[in-house]
Amino acid sequence: MPTFPIKKLREETPGCREVLHFNNAGAALPPRAVIDAVKEHIDLEATIGGYEAASVSFDKTEQMYEHAAQLIHCDRSEIAFVENATRAWDMAFYSFKFKKGDRIITALSEYASNYLAFLHAARHTGVSIDVVRNDDSGQLDLDDLEKKLDERVKLIAITHIPSQGGLINPATEVGRMANAMGIPYLLDATQSVGQLPIDVRAIGCDFLCTTGRKFLRGPRGTGFLYARKSRLEQCDPPFIDLQAAKWVSDNDYVFRPDARRFECWEQNIAAKIGLSTAIQYALQIGPDQIWERIHYLSQRLRQRLSEISGITLRDLGQKKCGIVTFTSDRQTPEAIQLQLRLQKINVSISLEEYARLDLAPRKLSALVRASVHYYNTEEEIEHFCNTLQSIL
Ligand SMILES: Cc1ncc(COP(=O)(O)O)c(C=O)c1O
Repeated sequence: MPTFPIKKLREETPGCREVLHFNNAGAALPPRAVIDAVKEHIDLEATIGGYEAASVSFDKTEQMYEHAAQLIHCDRSEIAFVENATRAWDMAFYSFKFKKGDRIITALSEYASNYLAFLHAARHTGVSIDVVRNDDSGQLDLDDLEKKLDERVKLIAITHIPSQGGLINPATEVGRMANAMGIPYLLDATQSVGQLPIDVRAIGCDFLCTTGRKFLRGPRGTGFLYARKSRLEQCDPPFIDLQAAKWVSDNDYVFRPDARRFECWEQNIAAKIGLSTAIQYALQIGPDQIWERIHYLSQRLRQRLSEISGITLRDLGQKKCGIVTFTSDRQTPEAIQLQLRLQKINVSISLEEYARLDLAPRKLSALVRASVHYYNTEEEIEHFCNTLQSIL
């Protein structure tokens, strides 16, 4: 990929000099611009006071909404800043008031925390959970989804790219069905925002959650929620404070009209500025270019891994992303991770308990997850595979 400015991007990423980082699905290495933006604000807080620093940096924090909206193609009023993807998802999910007889539709690749919330809602309200089966490729089966849709379905909630593999679920096709039936659609895009171009209007989701630290390369403890304007009126957040609502009389309050009704007043301002900087950085490189490079590197990694004896690739789906999962018939995922770490190579492990519906039927108690970002290189893939081969 000769046109990609890899040298410059690696120079701007201090971590690239220290480690071979294939744990971008866990937390990516941040660029220097993000690190500096966070540190600068922390220093400002220490120098002039936290509230005063927030006031000085007001424009910078407001830009977070602008950048996020630009990235996923929505209006800035449809963005809420939250501390992680789980809380973003929760704020949308727990706005729904389910009752017995209602149905939630999800898919086999659903993220553990989301599924736990379904179980929680089922226990408390009697709502039932329907899981769409996979098609032959391993992505959610659109025909099965269509068959399951009726007037009792109160929510479709799926994960775009699961934590535990390279699968990309057909989010846009799901959106078309949800919109045709007027069913609210909540998309967990935690692993996809920053990895591939996302257009919420094209996807047709009503809510989307994501996190800052993964493919966006932002600070930990950041995330955002997209909530479609036309759904906001009906949204009653599960808990509110004086950021979300205005106390207008002794007995009454009114919600903010925009998505910030899902926010909390107290926020990590330095991290918010860091997230804004990270999104801006991604926008400057270009979501299409980022995806092209991640796709290319992950294909190459899969190809090289497939040549190593005893390795089985475990990614499902028609289209695959930068998350590459595998097992070995010689060593456990945990042992592989540990030995790679000793050689300054970072990967992570996906456990069955993180994705029970997906991994348990495949009898996979754990997987090695090697997730690439655009700042990784062909040489790193070679080094990774050679090291892995020698470990095995
Ligand atoms: C698909 C998916 N959804 C949600 C989450 C949770 O994100 P966070 O830790 O930012 O809440 C993760 C984290 O790994 C994830 O992979």
